[in-house]
Amino acid sequence: MASIRIYGDPVLRKKAAPVTAFDDKLGKFVEQMIDDMYESDGVGLAAPQVGESVRVAIVDPTGGEKAPYVLINPEVIERSEEQVEDEEGCLSIPDIRLKVRRPAIVSVRAWNEHGEEYTIENAAGLFARALQHEIDHLEGILFVDRVSPVSRQLVSGKLKKLAKSSRDRAAA
Ligand code: CO
Repeated sequence: MASIRIYGDPVLRKKAAPVTAFDDKLGKFVEQMIDDMYESDGVGLAAPQVGESVRVAIVDPTGGEKAPYVLINPEVIERSEEQVEDEEGCLSIPDIRLKVRRPAIVSVRAWNEHGEEYTIENAAGLFARALQHEIDHLEGILFVDRVSPVSRQLVSGKLKKLAKSSRDRAAA
């Protein structure tokens, strides 16, 4: 399994590049990402989290049915005005869970690994949250960027520690 990049790793802050070739290499990469996501017990995984700065993300909101959505070059095309707050975590930011406000309902356009365009209409609940969280990763945005200043302050020490150990690992 690929090692998950942790907060402080610069790849998590890069704007990821669009996928232009829907080839065998992409198919294998997607398969690997799906395996990595299930092995890490994640609801979603974005390519920068495994060190690849490309616009690929996987989301499976079913909690055990193994029905992954493959999101290539995804884009939120509609978001509700209504926002909801709920706790989020991230495989790249271990042991931190914070409340994040996001639009309650979103529609997303994406391509699958075969180059077929599709749309997810009016995703809600955990699915909407996971889609937005993973698409944020492709912009170099992490959920801790979207929490209240008070929450951010509360975890700033933990985040600094994560970033330091991430740097130490990169230097080793
Ligand atoms: Co994440």
